[in-house]
Amino acid sequence: MELLFLGGGRMGAALIAGLIGQGHPLEPLAVVEHDPARRSELASLFPGLRVESDPLQAETVVVCTKPGDVADALSAAFDVGFDLVVSIAAGVTTKTIESTVGAVPVVRAMPNTPAVLGAGVTAIAAGSHADAEHLDVAEALLCSVGTVVRVEESLLDAVTAVSGSGPAYVYLLAEHLTAAGVELGLPPDLAEALVGQTLLGASRMLVETAEPAATLRAAVTSRGGTTEAAIAAFDDGRFDALIHTAVSAAARRSAELGTELEQRTSVGEGDRDAAGGAADASGPER
Ligand SMILES: NC(=O)c1ccc[n+]([C@@H]2O[C@H](COP(=O)([O-])OP(=O)(O)OC[C@H]3O[C@@H](n4cnc5c(N)ncnc54)[C@H](OP(=O)(O)O)[C@@H]3O)[C@@H](O)[C@H]2O)c1
Repeated sequence: MELLFLGGGRMGAALIAGLIGQGHPLEPLAVVEHDPARRSELASLFPGLRVESDPLQAETVVVCTKPGDVADALSAAFDVGFDLVVSIAAGVTTKTIESTVGAVPVVRAMPNTPAVLGAGVTAIAAGSHADAEHLDVAEALLCSVGTVVRVEESLLDAVTAVSGSGPAYVYLLAEHLTAAGVELGLPPDLAEALVGQTLLGASRMLVETAEPAATLRAAVTSRGGTTEAAIAAFDDGRFDALIHTAVSAAARRSAELGTELEQRTSVGEGDRDAAGGAADASGPER
């Protein structure tokens, strides 16, 4: 297999759909999925795709399980063999993954949910044995669901806080903007439609004009006008400080989760060693 997906949940399926949508042939793709009901769903979503309960030998494994399942999924695949790991599991550091796969190159990625529409943005970072060619493989995979940027792994907590969690902040804004419109007398359906299209249009202006957000905002804020009145209220409520506090909280939590998972992995290794360890805790070389 060229690409073996470990976990065919929401994000795994989004990546597979992205590749197929870009014309990638089905034969070199396969997915390993734990849940039998989900395996049936995947088989009907992607007719002709190999959907397996156990790993197959692969050039690249793409880890799409929840963070807590990564070590188990990778250990099972490692017994069969692979040459590169691309992991999208939030907060799971390359150090944690390397403790399972040894010297096999690892690329860690942080996508976001608009990937399901092919409109995601993913940051990728190389682990200690990965080079530019490995990043090229990961980029070719992930650009099927949106744009890809390359960063140092030390920036991934910040990326998680900005673009990984970012869609939720936009949904929060949408919730409150819709509720405010309803409070002013708009029917809920109409308020939702106005808000959705406004966010879409404003996002397209940001991306397609490439003007800084501050310039676009100034262009629609006439002196003494309605927007200026709203922005004065945002400023009085320290909207800027609130955003900084919220994004810092997300980055801090991302770092904490990474450390917790690293510690849990090293505790697991200790336990295996103490038990006479079938698994090679020091990380097998390949
Ligand atoms: N959603 C996002 O916005 C987003 C953004 C960035 C990164 N991510 C990361 O993407 C990853 C996947 O998220 P998701 O929302 O797609 O999760 P999900 O829907 O729960 O999908 C994970 C799937 O993997 C299966 N699985 C668990 N252990 C397995 C194993 N050992 N072998 C094979 N399959 C296994 C799970 O089955 P069971 O349910 O039976 O365990 C589940 O069907 C997470 O690590 C998340 O941090 C998500």
